[in-house]
Amino acid sequence: MKADREGGCANDELAWPRASAGHLAPEWVDSFAAVPRALFLSDLIWAHDMPTGRSVPVSRDVDPVGWQRAAEANVPIVTQWDDGQHAGTSPGTVPTSSASMPSVVAGMLRDLDVREGMRVLEVGTGTGWNAGLLAHRLGGDQVVSVEIDAAVTERARTALTRAGLDPEVVHGDGARGWPKGAPYDRVIITAGVRTVPLDWLQQVRPGGAILTPWGTHYSDQDALLRLTVREDGSAAGPFLRMVEFMKLRNQRLDWNRFREHVPQFPGDADVSRTRLTLAELGDRYDTLRFVMGLRVPDCAHVVNQPDTGTAKAWFFDLLSRSWAAVVFRDGEPEPTVYQSGPRRLWDEVESAHRWWTACGSPDLTRFGLTVGRDGQRAWLDDPGNSWPV
Ligand SMILES: C[S@@+](CC[C@H](N)C(=O)[O-])C[C@H]1O[C@@H](n2cnc3c(N)ncnc32)[C@H](O)[C@@H]1O
Repeated sequence: MKADREGGCANDELAWPRASAGHLAPEWVDSFAAVPRALFLSDLIWAHDMPTGRSVPVSRDVDPVGWQRAAEANVPIVTQWDDGQHAGTSPGTVPTSSASMPSVVAGMLRDLDVREGMRVLEVGTGTGWNAGLLAHRLGGDQVVSVEIDAAVTERARTALTRAGLDPEVVHGDGARGWPKGAPYDRVIITAGVRTVPLDWLQQVRPGGAILTPWGTHYSDQDALLRLTVREDGSAAGPFLRMVEFMKLRNQRLDWNRFREHVPQFPGDADVSRTRLTLAELGDRYDTLRFVMGLRVPDCAHVVNQPDTGTAKAWFFDLLSRSWAAVVFRDGEPEPTVYQSGPRRLWDEVESAHRWWTACGSPDLTRFGLTVGRDGQRAWLDDPGNSWPV
């Protein structure tokens, strides 16, 4: 299964909405026509170039035609780097605010399943486009949107006013929701989440829904999760499809913390061999990699490829100093495994892979998540068949 991104998929770059009509539900057509994305973009934007994966700066002053084309294209557009610390036209290090890919926005609004009279909370206002679409459909007084970055909040407010739309835009930490506006019928998160805050559950009426990109720290991947809130205040629901979002500011993974795990490689690590191949660890957009994250909790994983013939897969425990690394060399049938610390991470990865294969390699949509006071539990096919994540 390929991921839809804030980023997106190749060959889907035609002017919106022609490219992805399948994502645009009939009840949203008028709002998308009345609330164009261009109204919410600054003069300097960074458009995602699908073939190269690069962010390309486009200035409205220098290239007005290119700017308009980018605004109308089915591509994600970065609007802020490095939490606003980056200046200049070249891309910064970490994209921290964006206007998501239009087909992703349309697909999420379709899956949110709103009806007239519903109250909606959005977390991650960004440009304000999504909040504007919701306000056009439901009325401004039914929509609250929370944004953590002060400058981004201000820009969104200005754009919304200019567009004649008036949702409530709050500057704050959306991980706490916005209790003043509760109860909500729907909560939509437009950032990647690792832990669903209980505040969101408490602010949604029973039977209401929370739609959020969710994933584990095992990878950057997110899967779109649709939780329904139950009478007892817990929530459960299935994963719908792979997506990829920038993460909630307070739930980002700081990779620097792992520097201390491996002061010297391989140090005192135990050495063994494996038959698992690099391909079997799953690609960036694979369900398999996502599922491995569900089965190997509290583990961060990254693959370094210093040259074409070698790749090193790293695994770091989030709770102890345990780590594992596997060196894959072209033509080597049994790659070398290094494991250090009390947690044998590679053994867990192999075991997770065996489990997935034994289950018949289930697709993402057979998995789901339950969230409650006792934490988060992933499940396969049935919430009764669950384990902590
Ligand atoms: C992908 S952008 C949202 C796109 C937006 N919905 C739009 O229509 O343009 C993600 C946004 O989430 C914001 N964000 C990150 N963490 C947040 C938090 N804890 N609370 C509220 N907003 C947050 C970021 O600053 C960023 O603007």
